[in-house]
Amino acid sequence: EKGGYPHFMLKEIFEQPRSILDSMRGRLIAESDHMMMGGIREFENKFVNAERIIIVACGTSWHAGLVAEYLIEDLARIPVEVEYASEFRYRNPIISERDIVIAISQSGETADTLAALELAKSKGATIFGICNVVGSSIARATDAGAYTHAGPEIGVASTKAFTAQVTVLSLIAMILGSKRGTLETTKLRQLMVELESIPAKVEKALELNDQIIAISEQYKDATNCLYLGRGYNFPVALEGALKLKEISYIHAEGYPAAEMKHGPIALIDAQMPVVVIATQDSSYEKIVSNIQEVKARKGKIIAVVTEGDTTIPAMADHVIEIPETSEHLVPLLSVIPLQLLSYHIAVMRGCNVDQPRNLAKSVTVE
Ligand code: M6R
Repeated sequence: EKGGYPHFMLKEIFEQPRSILDSMRGRLIAESDHMMMGGIREFENKFVNAERIIIVACGTSWHAGLVAEYLIEDLARIPVEVEYASEFRYRNPIISERDIVIAISQSGETADTLAALELAKSKGATIFGICNVVGSSIARATDAGAYTHAGPEIGVASTKAFTAQVTVLSLIAMILGSKRGTLETTKLRQLMVELESIPAKVEKALELNDQIIAISEQYKDATNCLYLGRGYNFPVALEGALKLKEISYIHAEGYPAAEMKHGPIALIDAQMPVVVIATQDSSYEKIVSNIQEVKARKGKIIAVVTEGDTTIPAMADHVIEIPETSEHLVPLLSVIPLQLLSYHIAVMRGCNVDQPRNLAKSVTVE
């Protein structure tokens, strides 16, 4: 059942070239300029004219929601708010019939997410679901939706569900950008081709496994770890930190890199590993200076960079190279080494990777 892998988590990490492909199957064919998503088509007018999109989710699904905020605001120019379902439902939020609420959930059973969407529904908003489990409670409670088609995810730590969510959300942002005329055709075409090439690039990123085992060996006894990213890689920093803490029990925090100097920088010393996601995108120069700030305080830098980077290797303690892609799609690649890093560290620490203590695969109580 684990297909020869020692844990479901590792199997699921390695399934990602396939699961990402499955999540876009029938929805994207770049060659023939085809992009389609049934659930969106059904509510096309509502989506295209939406004044605001509110995303509700928990945990890793909330991180996918944050990526979507960057994507939808940039490509489709619709304001997006990303809410922890548990906070949203209890704070008397302002919701109207003109809002679209997107609920993201792998299991489709998360109690807070379900309650948040029921609340939004009672106020007249249109509810769109992005779920992995077909026929789940959240999927049934929505007006429309798109399944992620990642296949069953057994490991408690979400991996392939996250990349499938981000794939579906990227497609939604592209479809909306094209329908609203906010995304020019040449850029749209480039993104379509780029998204289609992601499974092959994920395959390539998975070849980093041996290098990451060697890095994990050096940091397995760490007590703390900081993850930094900017722009599209900021949610990836949060996701990397969550992955590490939930399965290895190492305390980890994800931060937008520029926030470091507003507090966390005080933590940095020679014992502090700092994972920096520093791919070549619009925030590259800025994140290079954040790396320098960490090095000046003797922190250990594990940098995830774009293949061929020549600046960061001169500064970082470890450099993990991932294939080049558009910055809009980079989370689909930059998250891969972080999943592997937390997996190997957890295994080396003798943790129960697939079923970490105190956690359940679906959180059906609030
Ligand atoms: O099934 P859901 O996507 O609604 O679950 C949300 C969170 O409980 C889930 O992502 C959790 O944070 C994972 N254990 C993260 O790996």
